[in-house]
Amino acid sequence: MNYDIQDPALAEVGKQRIYWADRFMPVLSQIRERFEIEKPLTGVRIAACLHVTTETANLMRTLKAGGAETVLCASNPLSTQDDVAASLVVDCQIPVFAIKGEDTETYYRHIDAAIDFQPTITMDDGADLVSKLHSGEVEASIVDGVLAGTEETTTGVIRLKSMAAEGVLKYPIVAVNDAQTKHLFDNRYGTGQSTLDGIIRATNLLMAGSTFVVAGYGWCSRGLANRARGLGAEVIVTEVNPLTALEAIMDGFRVMPMIEAVKEAEVICTVTGNIHVIRGEHFEVMKDGCIVANSGHFNVEIDISALENLSQEQTTIREFVEEYTLKDGRKVYLLGQGRLINLAAAEGHPASVMDMSFANQALSAEHIIQRHQKMENQVYGVPQDIDRTIASLKLKAFGVEIDQLTEEQETYLNSWTMGT
Ligand code: ADE
Repeated sequence: MNYDIQDPALAEVGKQRIYWADRFMPVLSQIRERFEIEKPLTGVRIAACLHVTTETANLMRTLKAGGAETVLCASNPLSTQDDVAASLVVDCQIPVFAIKGEDTETYYRHIDAAIDFQPTITMDDGADLVSKLHSGEVEASIVDGVLAGTEETTTGVIRLKSMAAEGVLKYPIVAVNDAQTKHLFDNRYGTGQSTLDGIIRATNLLMAGSTFVVAGYGWCSRGLANRARGLGAEVIVTEVNPLTALEAIMDGFRVMPMIEAVKEAEVICTVTGNIHVIRGEHFEVMKDGCIVANSGHFNVEIDISALENLSQEQTTIREFVEEYTLKDGRKVYLLGQGRLINLAAAEGHPASVMDMSFANQALSAEHIIQRHQKMENQVYGVPQDIDRTIASLKLKAFGVEIDQLTEEQETYLNSWTMGT
C-alpha cells in the first residue's frame, strides 16, 4: 500500500484518540453498523480530501465498512493530526497522504496521489480535489470515471456552484454543507467553540473583558460571536450584508466597519470566506498588541503580505504566534499563519458535532450510488429524508423524545379552510 505520512509509529496514540472521538459519534457508529451488514458501497472508490482528524478517521472507517475502497489526503496543510494519519494506515489499512505542516508542493502532490487512485466518488472540504480534477492537468479517463462528489464546507459549495453556473462542472455534487444537520450545528456550534479553543490554546488569553472582533455574521461567524460573548468578551461584528448586520444588532452585538473596529480590538478573527478582509489600511490603524486570526477555510482573509510590508521585524513568540513589529513600533500578533485556527492550533470541531456532518457524508455517498444516473452536473442539496433521519438519530442518542402530530393537527396543517 502506498502512503505518505509523518511516522507510522504514532499509530497507537492515534488509535486511542480515534476511539475516544467515536464514543461521541453515535449516529455515524449506527450507520457504520448498518454498512457492515449491507455493504452499500461495494466496488466504490472514494478519494477524500478532508481535514485528517480523529472524526475524519471514523468517517473513513465507516466508508470502508460499507465496502468502499478509500484514500485520504489533507484539505489543508496545517490541519493534519499525524497520529491519526498513522493509525489509519497501520490499523485500518487506509492509504493516507498527509503530513502536518507540509509545504504547498507536497500538499498538491498528495492531492495528485488521491487522484491517481482513480476515484468513483470524490469527498471534498473546500473543493481543492474537484478543482484539480477540473484543471485540465488530469487524464480525461480519470475525470470521466468520477460518478459524483460531495462537498463539506461553505467555501467549497460556493466554488462548486459557480462552476455549475458557468457550465464547467463535470460531475454532480451533493452539498453536504447545505444539510440543516450540518451547517446549523457544525458551522455554528462547531466553529464557535473550536475557534475559541484554537485562539486560547495558541495564546492562553483571557476572553473575559477583552474586545473581540468577529468579521462576518454567517453561520460560522455568528457561532463564534456568541461563544466569545459567552466567555465574557465584548464582541463587535463587522459585515457587508445589511440583512445579516441587522441580525447581529438585534442579537445584541455592536456592528461597525472594520476600519473602526480595529482601533478597539484586542482580538480579531475573520470567518467570512472572502479575501483580504483585514488589509494594509487596517494594520495601519490597528491597536497596539492586537491578536489577529482566521477561521475561514482559506488563508486569504488576512492580507499577510501587507502586514509583512508594514513590518520591520517578525519573530515566532510561541507556537502558532508570530509577532510583527510595525515600523512605528506597534505589535501585531498573527496566529497560525492566518490558516484556520481551530484546526491549526486546536483539534477542529468536537466529535459530537462532526457526528452529524459525517453522517451526512456517509449517507450522501450511499445516495450517490443509488441515484447518480439520474443526477446532472449540478450542485444538489442533501435529500430531506437524510437530514431528518440524522436529526432523529441524534435526538435518540441524546435520549430525547419529542411529540408527534395528532391526526387533528395534521389535518389542520394541511387545510386552508380551517381558520379558527
Ligand atoms: N472541520 C472542522 N472540524 C473538523 C474536524 N474535527 N474533523 C474534520 N473536519 C473538520
